[in-house]
Amino acid sequence: MHVATDQHGALDALDDPYADFDAGEHFAGSVAGDVRDPYPGLARKRRETPVERRQDSLYEGITRDAYWVYRYEDVNRVFRENEVFSSHSIRDLMGLVMGPYVIVGLDEPEHKRHRNLVAQAFRQRSLQRWEESLVQVVIDQLVDRFASRGSAELVRELTYRMPIQVIAEILGLPRDDHTKFHHWAIALINVAADPETGLAASEDLRVYFAQISDQRRADPRDDVISDLVHAELDGEKLDEDEILSFLRLLLPAGAETTYRATGNFLYGLLTHPEQFQALRDDRSLMTQAIEESVRWESPLLITSRRALTEVDVAGVAIPAGAEIVNSVGAANHDETRWEHPDEFDIFREQIPHISFGAGPHMCLGMHLARMEMRLTVERLMDRLPDLRLDPEQVAAKDSHIHGETFRSPTSLPVLFDPV
Ligand code: HEM
Repeated sequence: MHVATDQHGALDALDDPYADFDAGEHFAGSVAGDVRDPYPGLARKRRETPVERRQDSLYEGITRDAYWVYRYEDVNRVFRENEVFSSHSIRDLMGLVMGPYVIVGLDEPEHKRHRNLVAQAFRQRSLQRWEESLVQVVIDQLVDRFASRGSAELVRELTYRMPIQVIAEILGLPRDDHTKFHHWAIALINVAADPETGLAASEDLRVYFAQISDQRRADPRDDVISDLVHAELDGEKLDEDEILSFLRLLLPAGAETTYRATGNFLYGLLTHPEQFQALRDDRSLMTQAIEESVRWESPLLITSRRALTEVDVAGVAIPAGAEIVNSVGAANHDETRWEHPDEFDIFREQIPHISFGAGPHMCLGMHLARMEMRLTVERLMDRLPDLRLDPEQVAAKDSHIHGETFRSPTSLPVLFDPV
């Protein structure tokens, strides 16, 4: 770790928690899964075994028996029919790290009550304010660090750092705490690769967030933690455990996914220079370009459910109590909905994809994620108009999108005219 000594604001007075970061290490042997291109295999599954019983090895010696669902129509159904497909399987997986009230693992009626309360902190008004005063500032400060150099590695220097900093800011964490927050956040996100450090970080974060929540109860500010502790609906409030679970979920749910999605978007544009140029020439293409990138390379490929009763999906009887893996990645490449689904094409007809889920648990942060992706690309286009891949470094590092559970570029070496 080194102490940055330049004077660019947020992270610069801090010990850099990313100094040793190597995105490549995030795949081999980690939760992301060491697979280069899962899509041909997923296409075969959609055709031959649209619902498949599999024994997956989770860790050494531990296996899990689950029914995998691959086609868009069925994946969409599993998300929406929450009275049959319970989210408790996620609570059982994540509860140890996030706490028992993790929203994404709750069923009705607890889920609805919890969601209505936390949604108060993510309303449209906040989003508009965050855009200029916060997200753009974070991105600009990161770009400032390499703009005069003429080259950069955008995963390590931009996409990996940006969403955690955005979350620290919207939560209203004191600047002096940002470094330790970033260290804990990275450890929590990497819990599957290093459980001991991840669990310790989860406990540190619980204690830390409990202190800040107490402070915000007594002395509210204009930030998400203040909104969460004061949110009220029909006389009900979130209790302490619910707030602490939610705050810890925001790191994997909000930072990990957005970092990967922003990298995938940049990778799509940089490897398709004619589409990148079309976007530079006509920024009204931005919305469809973001949706296409999230469909084409979803940052998160699977999520899980548990069958509450015996249920028939695509002609396969899934018994009550069975675990289900909903393959978002396979659904997004379903050839019955998209022609040449494995191709990145920002001009294709826009129809809904399923990267943000569907039904009652549909992503609560999708507007924030889209805004972070848009601003990253907009600020790069504004400030580094000739941004392009560095072919030598791409070849030397074998830069490509990687992963089976989570997907993102292993690196993004770029060149540009220094400014
Ligand atoms: C491109 C980035 C993102 C992707 C692909 C993504 C994807 C998803 C998906 C698929 C779900 C549903 C999971 C399920 O039903 O099993 C979900 C839920 C959720 N996401 Fe996101 N997400 C992203 C960014 C964010 C951000 C930035 C935040 C917040 C800062 C966030 C917060 C949440 C929360 C709180 C839930 C749970 C909602 C509930 O259970 O009611 N996500 N996300």
